[in-house]
Amino acid sequence: MSRYGATPGGSVTIPELADMKRDRRRIVMVTAYDYPGGKLADRAGVDIVLVGDSAAMTVLGRDSTVPATMDEMVVLASAAARGAERPLVVADMPFGSFQVSDEEAVRNAVRFAKEAGADAVKLEGAGPSVSRVLALVGAGIPVMGHLGLTPQSASMLGGFRAQGRTAAKALQLYDDALALEAAGCFSLVLEAVPAPVAARITAALSIPTIGIGSGADCDGQVLVYHDLLGLYEGRSARFVKRYAEIGAEIQDGLERFAEDVRSGAFPEDSHTYSIPEDELAEFESGLKGLSRR
Ligand code: KIV
Repeated sequence: MSRYGATPGGSVTIPELADMKRDRRRIVMVTAYDYPGGKLADRAGVDIVLVGDSAAMTVLGRDSTVPATMDEMVVLASAAARGAERPLVVADMPFGSFQVSDEEAVRNAVRFAKEAGADAVKLEGAGPSVSRVLALVGAGIPVMGHLGLTPQSASMLGGFRAQGRTAAKALQLYDDALALEAAGCFSLVLEAVPAPVAARITAALSIPTIGIGSGADCDGQVLVYHDLLGLYEGRSARFVKRYAEIGAEIQDGLERFAEDVRSGAFPEDSHTYSIPEDELAEFESGLKGLSRR
């Protein structure tokens, strides 16, 4: 049996994600930011690879996602897309790339499609973002929405904290989710939303929800690559589960390499190339002829 949730033998498509919701097959999404990450996610049978603007923190070492630029994201998305052949590749619209106008949002999303080979884009928020979704979908670019804790506006939300924890805020999230679906989003990320609220939103939508810190009733789940694999040293949110400690493995490997270089244990003969004896002798006499030492 295929390990893939969708389309053995082909790429994951947007209609198949809708089928997965209908058939109650859970959707697996993970972030990736480079060729090996995309390839490994593909081989693991992941359905959607998100080139998240979390890259600003996990890959580029910044304090938040806000400084991510289009140029940076296009490079990362194109590398991940080359590795991720089967999964649907979604590129995250960074802060500033869609806030100003519908036109600018379309121009930047077109870069993801043409320069990076992304299949779709993701953008945060509702309100003005609804008009962006309409414009992007009108231009033929599939859009994933993102509600709840939207890191690009974390300071407006009072920090990195759960959202929709009062009845009024939960109702607002519910309305926003319906508005994004009506505008044409093919899927919706729900981040740090109380599980019962995410469950009601998921039931109300015909498009799949992908949860992160939003409970088991979402149609799929996403985690950040560096968080789930133990590559990122920052404090993890409570919704992160670690499946590996790759950072510690890498550090151990690097320390052993440094030790071997310093002690002369690396490289060994098997790591070097030979030259035929006669060529070496000619080389040596050539050096003498040039009076080199
Ligand atoms: O940027 C990102 O990685 C994200 C996910 C956490 C959903 O938006």
